[in-house]
Amino acid sequence: MAITEAQILDALRAVQDPDLRRDIVTLGFVKDVKVCDGIVAFTVELTTPACPVKDQLKAECEDVVSAIDGVSQVVVEMTAQVRTRPSQQQDLVPQVKQIIAIASGKGGVGKSTVTVNLAVALAQTGARVGLMDADVYGPSIPLMLGCPDDRPFTRDGKIVPIEKDGVAMMSLGFLLEEGQAVLWRGPMVAGTVRQLLADVDWGDLDYLLVDLPPGTGDAPMSLAQLVPLTGVVIVTTPHNVAANIAGKAAALFQRLNAPLLGVVENMANLICPNCGEPTRLFAGMSGEELAAQLKIPFLGSVPLDPAISESSDRGVPSILAHPDRPQAAEFHRIAGRLAAYASVQSMSRQDLHRIGDAPVFEPVG
Ligand SMILES: Nc1ncnc2c1ncn2[C@@H]1O[C@H](COP(=O)(O)OP(=O)(O)OP(=O)(O)O)[C@@H](O)[C@H]1O
Ligand SMILES: [Mg+2]
Repeated sequence: MAITEAQILDALRAVQDPDLRRDIVTLGFVKDVKVCDGIVAFTVELTTPACPVKDQLKAECEDVVSAIDGVSQVVVEMTAQVRTRPSQQQDLVPQVKQIIAIASGKGGVGKSTVTVNLAVALAQTGARVGLMDADVYGPSIPLMLGCPDDRPFTRDGKIVPIEKDGVAMMSLGFLLEEGQAVLWRGPMVAGTVRQLLADVDWGDLDYLLVDLPPGTGDAPMSLAQLVPLTGVVIVTTPHNVAANIAGKAAALFQRLNAPLLGVVENMANLICPNCGEPTRLFAGMSGEELAAQLKIPFLGSVPLDPAISESSDRGVPSILAHPDRPQAAEFHRIAGRLAAYASVQSMSRQDLHRIGDAPVFEPVG
């Protein structure tokens, strides 16, 4: 008997997306089912190319379809279409699907380092990634990407971002004249953040990561008010003071209706260069505890590694300079989880509404 498309879809209903907690058929991920002489081919379109369980889902699809009587071969193509964040009528960056801000309470906890490495990690999955440096106190991204002396040019009245390591980058630093000291005041900050969004030719992006200055000043406020954000990542170190102020920053974003996507802990563990065992260096509140307190996901913990600051200081993201060290694996893992939660965030508002089901993930904020 000929194998039908309905049979294949029925079998694929057994495959669940672990983050969205629905089967891939209900989620509308299965496309282009073709059957020919026992050979079955179809596409699974995920919500992010950075999906951390892409290989597992592919294997499950192959297993359940192979088990159908008469199937001799299964060809699964995995693709991705990043969902769009909720937009507003006159969105400043309508072609940018997801905007994720990286924030912290305290300064120096590693926001910029985390932002740069996550941007490169996402770009390595095939996603189109932008990086906006909105740190009014000390824009550091051009240094970290090794292009402090570059100057972006303008085309058709728009500023063209600088391409580095597969990432389109624009920094507030480029908008300042050399050596210009700026006493930032609220309206100026808001104007500059607006300029970084609207006057830059970001093109079609899957993810725009925004590196914020520490705290809850004008830049985070302006950003959250100017565009609907997918959400905010909070970076913290395991010191009570850092966690405490991070909690305050989180509360601000919640008040501004920007969902919190999760907590990244940085510099908590030192990995022994000989045996690879992690040693916790500080006794303060961990990232995991902070995430639990805020009732948001814990995205991961980047170890303290001298290679990170060494490579960063010479303008190479550590994920590229030292791809075999534990920090690189952790950045990739965090990028995958972040992309998954960003999908959940958009799905819970749009597609799950379409499916007619209650959201699986109640956004905080
Ligand atoms: N996991 C790590 N291991 C070693 N060094 C790190 C790590 N994370 C960050 N650093 C170093 O710590 C310093 C501060 O990091 P970074 O500039 O990313 O922090 P920040 O939160 O962006 O700071 P600011 O609040 O000033 O913007 C840098 O020199 C960076 O290279
Ligand atoms: Mg910084």
